[in-house]
Amino acid sequence: MGERKVMIQIPENITELKSYKPGKPLSQVIEELGLTEVAVLWNNENNFGPSPKAMEFVTASLSNSHVYPDPVCTELRNLLAAKWNRKFEQVAVGNGSESIFNNLFNAFFENGDELLTCSGTFVAVYIWAKANNVKVQTVPLSDGFTFDLDALYNAIYDKTKAIYLSNPNNPTGAMIPEQDLKAFIEKVPSNVLIIVDEAYFEFAHDLSTEFPNSASYNYENVLTLRTFSKAYGIAAIRIGYAIGHEKLIEAIMKVKLTFEPSNLAQAAGIGALSDEEYLNKTIENNTTEIKKYYQTFEALNLNYTPSFGNFVMLNFENEETVHFYFEELMKLGVFVRPLKAFGLPHCLRITVGLPRENEMCIEALTEIASR
Ligand SMILES: Cc1ncc(COP(=O)(O)O)c(C=O)c1O
Repeated sequence: MGERKVMIQIPENITELKSYKPGKPLSQVIEELGLTEVAVLWNNENNFGPSPKAMEFVTASLSNSHVYPDPVCTELRNLLAAKWNRKFEQVAVGNGSESIFNNLFNAFFENGDELLTCSGTFVAVYIWAKANNVKVQTVPLSDGFTFDLDALYNAIYDKTKAIYLSNPNNPTGAMIPEQDLKAFIEKVPSNVLIIVDEAYFEFAHDLSTEFPNSASYNYENVLTLRTFSKAYGIAAIRIGYAIGHEKLIEAIMKVKLTFEPSNLAQAAGIGALSDEEYLNKTIENNTTEIKKYYQTFEALNLNYTPSFGNFVMLNFENEETVHFYFEELMKLGVFVRPLKAFGLPHCLRITVGLPRENEMCIEALTEIASR
């Protein structure tokens, strides 16, 4: 054997990606700051804990852990199809909607195809695209922090394979109303895939009658993404779904990992769908509590964007103020998300939590603003 000289070549797109660097564990931060009560409002999670019915179903399916999961996910897809009045063949499921998104590149993109979206949206999208060696073309968000549909439309060119819309937009909370979304879809060439990410659908639907349900559309080039991670509170279990034309769904199901999602995740989804009580409690809490934030922001003269998700975004004059609020809130036990990584360095996102957590956050904001 000759001398071994050449290392494995890592493709440039992967070399350029930054590794995920976890911060200090939350428990360590809590200990270091000597906090006795905390409000964790940084990940848009459901702080009620998981849906009890989802847990029941997971527990029951544990004894089947020696058997491979149903690769076709028959029961869960049938339930979702019935819920959204679509056919079984029009529903795909995956390890969270992030997995479905990641699979879209395999299913639909060829050499040189690009993804078009706005800067200032769900940051993972840019990472998944880069990992898949897909170029992302961006246009700025509109003044109201929502997707600028005119700018997106004007940016479409022959390499545009797909457009990504987050509705409502994480992290800004702004939404695209039904009328605008439909007009946009009608206009966009039908060979361009429109991905409508409705991770916060259940909250948005309760907050506005103008919020669209793109899962009810029947366009050949529209794919709706939804998740069980937010309103159903099972983010750790990893289950999400897509609804769209059967041709799109077939391609997605072909490229997913054979036994994705696990039997526990499928069971959790099935259980969660039957948990009306939990879902209603979650949505009611969000719709009521979000108003308390608005009242506080107005009283404190803080700039915010009306939100249609389970979070609110504050828009400060500069990055230093964001940092100041972030640090000071943390010292008072309130953990929120500065949005530099999302391309919005002057903004801060707060998840709407349980009443006591929101009260803590509101008291802390009021105290900090008065300094
Ligand atoms: C807009 C948006 N899409 C997708 C996701 C990921 O969802 P999942 O947990 O199903 O992968 C999130 C999670 O924060 C999100 O905010």
